[in-house]
Amino acid sequence: MLAIHGGTPIRDGQPWPQWPQYDERTERELLSALGSARWSVSWYSPRGGKSRERLFGEAFARYNGAAYGVSVDHGSSALVIALEALGIGPGNEVIVPAMTWVAPASAVLRVGALPVLADVDPETGCLTAEHIRNAVSDRTKAVIAVHLACTAARLDEIVQTVRAAGLALIEDCSQAHGTRWSGRHVGTFGDIGVFSLGAAKTLAGGEGGAAITESRELYDRMLMLRADSRGYSAGEPAPGEYELVEIGAIMGANYCMSELTAGVLLDQLPRLDDQHAQRETRAKELEAGLADISGLAPVPVPEPVDRRAIYEYGIRFLPDAFGGIPIEHIAGALTAELGTRIYPPRVPLHRSVLLRPHTKPRFAHWHDQAAERAAGRPFPGAEHYRDHTLLMHHSVLLGDRTDIEDLLAALTKVRAHAESLTAKGAVA
Ligand SMILES: Cc1ncc(COP(=O)(O)O)c(C=O)c1O
Repeated sequence: MLAIHGGTPIRDGQPWPQWPQYDERTERELLSALGSARWSVSWYSPRGGKSRERLFGEAFARYNGAAYGVSVDHGSSALVIALEALGIGPGNEVIVPAMTWVAPASAVLRVGALPVLADVDPETGCLTAEHIRNAVSDRTKAVIAVHLACTAARLDEIVQTVRAAGLALIEDCSQAHGTRWSGRHVGTFGDIGVFSLGAAKTLAGGEGGAAITESRELYDRMLMLRADSRGYSAGEPAPGEYELVEIGAIMGANYCMSELTAGVLLDQLPRLDDQHAQRETRAKELEAGLADISGLAPVPVPEPVDRRAIYEYGIRFLPDAFGGIPIEHIAGALTAELGTRIYPPRVPLHRSVLLRPHTKPRFAHWHDQAAERAAGRPFPGAEHYRDHTLLMHHSVLLGDRTDIEDLLAALTKVRAHAESLTAKGAVA
């Protein structure tokens, strides 16, 4: 009997790996940031030297092989300053995938532009060149391509299409820190790469974000946009000196990352690649087992990806693999067997309660007329992805092989149960 119906679960209470992970080194970094008496890049430095916020921006750029990195308080803020640095505003359209967290669309609204949703590949949930071409108008200025969950958008075709159309490209790598496409980190293919560093992410600072770029000009603009029009002084501040100087070439707001967050992130960054390798080992074991369960397969990864970052591991299933039972029920049954959340993707943005511009006066007065253009069509690729993909958090892959055996046993059990219901004709 399934655990959800009162049967014995596959896994009886053994804990799953905790996330986020930290140790004494993290505690020392955090205490040292506290003890510096410099909790903000906007505050002066009693001892002199660069802020942790600046050091993390530099370290994160280096990690990605990018020329410049800007630390911010959220991935959403990274999106806002990226759009503003590119000069995007009222009257412009930005293409956003229908399958993603709400922030890429809400960031476009926040700069006064229109997010035009585009459909996605049904197997990966990512935007494709074809979907971009279908969504372009003469008002389009940029595309936000999201590398979703455990895979990557097809960068070769996307870069070619975006450049041919004369558009800017922002890569949202909030779910793909460290993914490499043909040996190069994602986030370095477009004009700007943006990252969330929230608590659930593979690089976690609690709340946090970053933007990377190859362009000195975009970097300088993003610095001002994130710190009320201020940039860094030349060199390092002396004891008692401020590090930020007023420039004012473009008006900003305050999206600065706290020094405490930057301290935690400077501790976490060097751990990231080892954690990716461990998740990949577990993912390979899972994939070997999935090959023996008919109708189930991993979310595909484009062949040029030579290192994937797994934020949420995705398992695709054929429409009849669970006998037509709705995905919520399958996910609920698996969760009960395993004691860790297995869940469907969020609903596509055109149906999401998180994207409701008419509820806010700032957006409602113009968005209502534009709603049809923004989202007034079906998104069959996004709907298919949503109905046929089971996700799990990356921390599930940070344990040992027995965890994978439990996952496979739960999938086999729930699938067999669904099959027996179908055989009895109990499922419509
Ligand atoms: C693809 C994507 N973009 C942007 C964000 C927003 O990041 P934040 O929550 O740090 O503002 C997220 C957060 O989950 C995300 O997944």
